[in-house]
Amino acid sequence: MRTEKITAGPFSFESGFPSLIENIGEDPNPAKALANIEPEHREMVRGLLEKTGAVLLRGFDVLTIDQFEEVARSLLGELAAYKGGDAPRHAERGLVYNASGPDKTRAVRAHNELSYAPWHPATLVFGCSVVAEEGGATTIVDGHRVYTSLPSEVRDAFRERGVTYIQHLPHAAGDPSGIKSWPETFETDSKEDVIAHCQASYTSAKWTPLGLLTTNRTPGTVEVGADGRQAWFNQTHIWRKDPSTVPDVTDMERWESWIGYGATFGDGTEIPGHYMELVRETLETCEVAVEWEAGDVLLVDNRAAMHGRHPYSGDRQVFVAFA
Ligand SMILES: [Fe+2]
Repeated sequence: MRTEKITAGPFSFESGFPSLIENIGEDPNPAKALANIEPEHREMVRGLLEKTGAVLLRGFDVLTIDQFEEVARSLLGELAAYKGGDAPRHAERGLVYNASGPDKTRAVRAHNELSYAPWHPATLVFGCSVVAEEGGATTIVDGHRVYTSLPSEVRDAFRERGVTYIQHLPHAAGDPSGIKSWPETFETDSKEDVIAHCQASYTSAKWTPLGLLTTNRTPGTVEVGADGRQAWFNQTHIWRKDPSTVPDVTDMERWESWIGYGATFGDGTEIPGHYMELVRETLETCEVAVEWEAGDVLLVDNRAAMHGRHPYSGDRQVFVAFA
């Protein structure tokens, strides 16, 4: 549901999920005009993002990495590096990354970026320079809608007990498990630096013969927006192992001989399988597909909204930066 349009300067603002900001100005270089946005209009963009969790900027022709980086910095300030993440991702340049992922034939399930890690970005900015031949929508999911749609038993359990993520990363790249090695994950080969960083920021971290084993206890829901509404904020539906295929997922000694990811409740107990089924169904129901047009920019509040991607064909080019 969209509300009435408000216009200010070269912008038309329309609240929704995502909210829509369209270019109604006549600047021959709209990407430059967006990068030079007036402070009062920037505040309106940020206000809309805080209120609704996702904002699509359309008609500004943001097509090159240079333009994208300038617009991202102008709207969000300093950009951040993608460190500690499980996704294979390479920097296109500087702090602008490729968001298209390795396997275009598979959907990327909805998630909050780095919700399993001790640090996560507050905001994501995506930009599309080349649209896929078929498919390739970026999906967004309103975390507050997920929270209120779930049975109270499920959302209360996650709000009260939180989540513990378990990560056992191999020493070297190319592990048969397909799991990113610790040097790839942390972008360094220094064992000393990695263990110092992990012991300072994770709940636990240690070396094993196979690799680096960490646990991270975090909230399963978070308060977002000026109104402090509760939002779903975890990726247990992706990380939790089914006990029928991976036994003893809560046994930390067993983890030492097994490379992979897992998730339990914060206190280390098993998350019931039927909770996960309900979460998956709810995420599907709440998913909104953002069909790209070349030159679009999409802002996502990483705590208030989850994101994912539909499968696609062709040479889709979508950039992402973090702030
Ligand atoms: Fe992501």
